[in-house]
Amino acid sequence: MAEIVYGSEIAKKIKAKLAAKMQALKQEGKRLPKLCVVLVGNHPASLSYVTGKEKACREIGMENDLIRLPQDISEKALLDFIQKLNVDDAVDGILVQLPLPAHIDEHKVLFAIDPAKDVDGFHPISLGKLMLQEDTFISCTPKGIMRILEEIGYDDLSGKKAVVVGRSNIVGKPVAQLLMNKHATVTVCHSRTKNVEEIAAQADILIAAIGKPRYIHASWVKEGAVVIDVGINRDENNKLCGDVDFEAVKEKAAYITPVPKGVGPMTIAMLLENTLEAYEKKEG
Ligand code: GUN
Repeated sequence: MAEIVYGSEIAKKIKAKLAAKMQALKQEGKRLPKLCVVLVGNHPASLSYVTGKEKACREIGMENDLIRLPQDISEKALLDFIQKLNVDDAVDGILVQLPLPAHIDEHKVLFAIDPAKDVDGFHPISLGKLMLQEDTFISCTPKGIMRILEEIGYDDLSGKKAVVVGRSNIVGKPVAQLLMNKHATVTVCHSRTKNVEEIAAQADILIAAIGKPRYIHASWVKEGAVVIDVGINRDENNKLCGDVDFEAVKEKAAYITPVPKGVGPMTIAMLLENTLEAYEKKEG
């Protein structure tokens, strides 16, 4: 029977530390770190994600601004808007919520963000530095996953086999890189992989980030594995669930993260941490 690892509890501790930091800055009469979140259009899941980010900022006393732009905004107008945030000294972190409307080139927008304010870690400079193991902003979900592993004592991953199911730019690819940086032997599986179950069953650390409800069955999991579930899905009864068949897999794994209260809250905590890091780099 696995230990259930509540990211929500780890995130709570991180947020308490950040809140104390905000309080200290306030008492010193300093400017506070500020995160600007840009939401284009009315994508319902995106709206719920950005609301969560704003709420977390408020909870710890970090300055924040949610900027809502119309669905039909032109690419040029959005790029001009980002440029304004880039040159605004009061802004430390910029996050443009994805996905963007189809008429806007997502890469162009991510490239337009000043890398010094790229708290999402999606700029090619941030991603390149991650590959080179240079100091940079690490995107929030992969960073949160690594923090969970540290928390359960999985820091040095030498000799460990990690399997990442999913190859997205936001999670799969960067987390695979981070696991490699910690000396794990990493295999990335995706929708075109044959025999995913056989590969997954060899994992000491299994990261599920494919976006399919309860895709990972207990038979795919090695006894004693660490299972990190990144999925946020709705099942056939509209119930929130992860990419892992939690009830069955928890009987086999040594550690497992639940959905909700697992990786999700860690993503937000890492965003706050990255924003403070951006502020500290700027203020010196
Ligand atoms: N859409 C889904 N996840 C994310 C995220 O972590 N950052 C941004 N900007 N958009 C997302």
